[in-house]
Amino acid sequence: MEQFKFIDLFSGIGGFHQAMEQLGGECVFASEIDKFCNAQYERNYGMSSDINIRDVKEEELPAFDVLCAGFPCQAFSKAGKQQGLEDKTRGTLFFEIVRILKHHHTPYIVLENVRNLVSHDNGNTWRIIQESLRELGYRTTAEPLILSPHFFGIPQIRERVIILGKYDPDNIDEPLNIDLGKLNAKEDNSIYSVLEEREVDKSYYISEYEEMVLQAWDEFYQGINLKVIGFPVWADYFKYKGTYDGLPDWKAGFIKKNVKLYEDNKEFIDGWLKKYNNLKKFTKTHHKMEWQCGTDIASIWDGVIQFRPSGIRIKKPNNFQALVAMVQIPIIGKYRRRLTVEEAARLQSFPVDDEIKPFIPDDNRQQAYKQFGNSVNVEVIRRAAEALFKN
Ligand SMILES: C[S@@+](CC[C@H](N)C(=O)[O-])C[C@H]1O[C@@H](n2cnc3c(N)ncnc32)[C@H](O)[C@@H]1O
Repeated sequence: MEQFKFIDLFSGIGGFHQAMEQLGGECVFASEIDKFCNAQYERNYGMSSDINIRDVKEEELPAFDVLCAGFPCQAFSKAGKQQGLEDKTRGTLFFEIVRILKHHHTPYIVLENVRNLVSHDNGNTWRIIQESLRELGYRTTAEPLILSPHFFGIPQIRERVIILGKYDPDNIDEPLNIDLGKLNAKEDNSIYSVLEEREVDKSYYISEYEEMVLQAWDEFYQGINLKVIGFPVWADYFKYKGTYDGLPDWKAGFIKKNVKLYEDNKEFIDGWLKKYNNLKKFTKTHHKMEWQCGTDIASIWDGVIQFRPSGIRIKKPNNFQALVAMVQIPIIGKYRRRLTVEEAARLQSFPVDDEIKPFIPDDNRQQAYKQFGNSVNVEVIRRAAEALFKN
C-alpha cells in the first residue's frame, strides 16, 4: 500500500503510529486513557488521543484501511494475575475492537499482545480471539506469529504475539503468507549498539554505595572457584546450621548449594566477609547475587546489572531482557551508569535520533521509562505490517 489511513487504539505513545507512518500511513484517530501518554501523543504527532475507546461510536469513526491495537496486557501478562476474558474491565476491551471491525470491515488489522496470550486460560483466550476474527471475515496466520526485536538486530529480547489479519471472507481458510526474511539470533545483538559512548547526565551514574556493593560482588566472583553459578548466591545462608526439615525441596536445595559454596571457598569468603564487615552496610536484598551469564563475561563490570527485590542480577550484554514498565532501570556495568531514556527509546526503535522528526520522550524520566516499557517495538510492527500488506 502506498498511502493509507490507520487508527491507533490503546495508542500509548504511538509505537504503531511510528511504524505505520514509516510505511506511508496517515493516522486519522487515536484512543488512549492515560493522560501522560495523551500529552506525549499531542506533542509528537500534533493530534489528540484523549478518548476512552468505550465511548467511541463505531459509526462515527472516519474511514480507515488499517486498525492497529496493542490491547492492554495486564490481565494477560504472566507477571500479573491470570484472569482473562471474564475480567470485565480489561478482558472485554478486545470486544471493542470486534465492534469496530464489524462495522468497518477494515482491510487490514495489526494487533499486539504479550506472548502469554496464546496459552492464556488453557488456550481459551486465543481460541476466542481467532474465532472472533474468522467470524468477522479475517484471514490470519496459520500459527501464532511470535516476534522479538532481537530478530531484527535490535538488542532486546521481548517476545510478543502479533496478530495480523486481512479482510477476505471468500478465502477465509487460506492462511496469510508472512515472509520476514532472515531473522537474527540472540547472540548477534549487543546492547552497546544502542548506547551512548559519550558522557551522559550525571544523574544516570551509579551511587558510591552501589559502586561499593557491585565491586564487592565482583571481588566475590573473581575469588571463588565456581565460574558458572547456577543458583542465587545468598550470603545469609553461607553458614546455615539450621534444619532442612519442613523446607520445600527448592529451598533446601538452594541453601545446601550456598553452604557448599562457602565450604569450598571458606578461606576466601571469610576474608571477603571480613573486608565488607559481614555486609552490615548492605541493604538486605543486596546480600543476594544472581549470576546469569555462564562464562560469557569475566566480571560484573562487563555485564548488565539490575538491583531487583530478589537480589542483584547480572546478565550478558547480548542477552538484554525485555524492557518492561521498568522500576529497576538496568545498569551498564562498563559505563557504571543506568540506561538513559534515549537508550530505552532506541531499544523500542523510537526515532529519537532522527534529524527531521525526532521522537521527543516525556520530560518526566520515570514516565518515559514506563511508556517505552509499555510500548510496542516500532521496528517489529513495521516489519510485520510490511509483510502483511503484501497479501
Ligand atoms: C500495552 S499499552 C499500548 C501501548 C501502545 N501500543 C504504544 O505503542 O505505546 C495499552 C494501553 O491501553 C490503554 N487503555 C486501557 N484502557 C483503555 C480504554 N478503555 N480506552 C483507551 N485506551 C485504554 C492503557 O492506558 C495503555 O496505555
